[in-house]
Amino acid sequence: MVGANSRGVLVGYYLTASGAERAFTDRGGHFTPVDAPGAGRRPGQGTIAVDINDSGVVAGYYTGRHGKYGFVLRRGRFTIVRYPPGSRSTWASGVADNGTIAVMSSGLASITENVAGVWDGYSASKVALNMLVRGFASRHSRRKRAVILMAPGWVRTDMGGPEADLDIHESVPRVVDIVTSQIGRPGLRFLDYTGRTVAW
Ligand SMILES: NC(=O)c1ccc[n+]([C@@H]2O[C@H](COP(=O)([O-])OP(=O)(O)OC[C@H]3O[C@@H](n4cnc5c(N)ncnc54)[C@H](OP(=O)(O)O)[C@@H]3O)[C@@H](O)[C@H]2O)c1
Repeated sequence: MVGANSRGVLVGYYLTASGAERAFTDRGGHFTPVDAPGAGRRPGQGTIAVDINDSGVVAGYYTGRHGKYGFVLRRGRFTIVRYPPGSRSTWASGVADNGTIAVMSSGLASITENVAGVWDGYSASKVALNMLVRGFASRHSRRKRAVILMAPGWVRTDMGGPEADLDIHESVPRVVDIVTSQIGRPGLRFLDYTGRTVAW
């Protein structure tokens, strides 16, 4: 046994008769073997589960004929983790409970602040987006995730146009910094690219 979540689900691995490793999950005594697609069946090959979070997402790695790769297993679906492209060996050894969900909103979605009546249809669509995300966050409020509605500023993109305030490199790195700074801070927040709280 290697990992466990706070709901008492265990993950780990054992050796099969052929000498290969095989991962398992154990939910209250209900034991399920886990084989990653591509995992080999020979000694020194197979699947190893390393960790599980409270949502039941499993992280681990497998060894096949072509190398050792990480995987994330969520609701029966494997996502292979292989960084950088072309590498022969990547391990996935943890999976966070406190991930951050960031959704691209807009300052124009602020009914309080957007008093000038610009881009009404677009603004209304982002208000609707905010409402949907607010509902999502409310329904998942027991989770430890941060849910961030992001207003990136007015940016010179195809959509923003040449008159916009900010170049992409003036907005996007700050958006990334603000989103990253919210890791481990559960709850819903509407923030702009400077970290300011935007009024609903
Ligand atoms: N620029 C701003 O000032 C500003 C301000 C506030 C919020 N935002 C928000 O930031 C986000 C990005 O905006 P942007 O300014 O970068 O816009 P953009 O320059 O128009 O780029 C939009 C991107 O979305 C892709 N896309 C559009 N429809 C899609 C679809 N149905 N499926 C998959 N991809 C699709 C486009 O792909 P193709 O190139 O292949 O068409 C393009 O790469 C948007 O949500 C926007 O509302 C932008």
